[in-house]
Amino acid sequence: MVMSEIMQDKKQAKLKDSWCGRLTESYIDKRVNLSGWVSTVRDLGGIIFVELRDRTGVIQIVSDPEKNPKVHTTFEQLRDEFVISVSGIVSRRPEDTYNLNLSTGTVEIYPDKIQILNRAETPPFMIDTDQEIGEDLRLKYRYLDIRRPKMLNNLILRHEIVAAVRNFLNKQEFLEVETPELIKATPEGARDYLVPSRLFPGKFYALPQSPQLFKQLLMVAGVERYYQVAKCFRDEAQRADRQPEFTQIDLEMSFVQSEDVMQITEGIIIEAFKCAGIDLIPPFERITYKDAMETYGSDRPDRRFELYLTDVSDIMEKSSFAAFADQVKAGGSVRALCIPGISDYSRKEMDDIRNLAISFGAKGLAWITYGFDGSVKSPVLKFLTEEEIGQIRQRAGANPGDIVFFVADKNEIVFDVLGRLRLHFGERLNLIDKAKHDLLWVVDFPMFEIDEEESRLASVHHPFTSPVEEDIDLLESDPLKCRALAYDIVYNGNELGGGSIRIHNSELQRRVFNTLGLSEEQIQEKFGFLVDAFKYGAPPHGGLALGLDRLVALIAGANSIREVMAFPKTNQARCLMTDAPAEASEEQLQELHLRTVIPKKK
Ligand code: AMO
Ligand code: AMP
Repeated sequence: MVMSEIMQDKKQAKLKDSWCGRLTESYIDKRVNLSGWVSTVRDLGGIIFVELRDRTGVIQIVSDPEKNPKVHTTFEQLRDEFVISVSGIVSRRPEDTYNLNLSTGTVEIYPDKIQILNRAETPPFMIDTDQEIGEDLRLKYRYLDIRRPKMLNNLILRHEIVAAVRNFLNKQEFLEVETPELIKATPEGARDYLVPSRLFPGKFYALPQSPQLFKQLLMVAGVERYYQVAKCFRDEAQRADRQPEFTQIDLEMSFVQSEDVMQITEGIIIEAFKCAGIDLIPPFERITYKDAMETYGSDRPDRRFELYLTDVSDIMEKSSFAAFADQVKAGGSVRALCIPGISDYSRKEMDDIRNLAISFGAKGLAWITYGFDGSVKSPVLKFLTEEEIGQIRQRAGANPGDIVFFVADKNEIVFDVLGRLRLHFGERLNLIDKAKHDLLWVVDFPMFEIDEEESRLASVHHPFTSPVEEDIDLLESDPLKCRALAYDIVYNGNELGGGSIRIHNSELQRRVFNTLGLSEEQIQEKFGFLVDAFKYGAPPHGGLALGLDRLVALIAGANSIREVMAFPKTNQARCLMTDAPAEASEEQLQELHLRTVIPKKK
């Protein structure tokens, strides 16, 4: 009998009326109909014990050939992952067989009916184990991987977080509005995924990198408070915390200042962490971008350990070490990072650290070792006076036994290299307080940075971000000094989300586009609709987007966002299960007016 026939046969018991994992002692003596997957089968010389699993957990079902020979014949056929349905009375287990690791561990069922709904081949990996399994195999058979409690629990947590966030925002009078997926490109700094148009030869839609422009237009439209659990698409290098398609909790509000958006975001994050039983207390601390860079060498500082950068440019500028002095004179800096208690590192260890710094982009790495015995050693000793060595010790806060590292370069490189070395030592010396939940706002980001590859100005956040009022005139005179009304929320060194107060004045928007080097034609062609919309009564507005995948992964303690996505892609943006991306047929290409030009393999 096929399933639909079973469902239609009114006389037949329901296939399922209870969840396996929820059968506790209160069900004793009650009849239940259960369906699920065979998790384990143990044949103890006649009596067969089966763990039956569903989304909620497992329950033990037992068959005794003497009690019910007919049922037993079916039990004998059971193998792992068979799909079955049973009916029976819940009974108490003999006390010496209690399994207190299971929520259902004091009860069991001797079914009087059993039905095999479907058979299963031996799965390519064990379902009921926490054993490490190669990720490629897991991704190829993701539907089996999700049967495993760890993945399933992550998806349940994700569901609960989304539900809690929606509930919170609904109460705050936000409207959930969907925005289109086939759009004109929205720049967020990544490459677009393009979709060819069949009706307009040679034209393409872009998939949204974010709903940014539409949510701003919803503000012009008078929605006032918008949110969306939004799919975003970015064709960029993949990492553990990046996927080509991912989800944002995206919001926008009218008539607000940064603080209002930050307060709502804190509410969201608090609700999300509550789903894992973690209570956070607002307000979260705020730090300026400048302080974050100068203290931690990062705009997403991990403050769970106390290692700090210090600026020694003024001391080094006067030193006789040209490599250092010249960097300062050229507008760069020399900064120091003091690492306590490692003065006994070997020559090889120091060389490895220098190579690490070079791999991070440094030209070199210098250091001073302050020995426990008062000795001072350094590859640049001959360039430094005793006074300078003492000044550095004081500035960097070095004690006997410490090593102070130096990098001299352009500021961006100095910060980046020392920031990464700081993280390296945080891990290496086990300094990180892993029990901490450190939430931090980074504010006052710069509006622009130099895009090295294309040697032009680029937006740090995006071009719709408002400058800080008193910096507006720097847009033309000194754009790199112009600060933005932008804020990022950082958790334990991870960027969870970011947003800004937006420009709502078409003239100011035009000035920012001009600073970014866009001509009038380019502005009109790319963003004409936005600049036009601003002419029809655009309210002041601002918003933010949280990376949902990152948020859930961090709350779950997972080491990659792939662990909290049902069907993620690999680092090469492939789906191993469906084998996407795949070739299109000749007919499809023709319809889309496309021809593929495949580069020759090198
Ligand atoms: P932003 O580009 O900073 O801002 O993105 C917001 C957050 O989205 C997450 N995120 C990603 N998660 C997984 N994979 C990716 N490839 C990926 N890229 C980004 C991060 C990030 O902090 N429209 C603006 C927001 C605004 O201004 O309101 C935006 O998209 O957690
Ligand atoms: P050199 O005189 O080039 O052999 O360098 C002496 C030491 O200074 C070596 O340990 C180099 O790694 C280091 N060094 C050189 N340039 C820099 C730099 N820009 N920042 C930090 N250390 C440097």
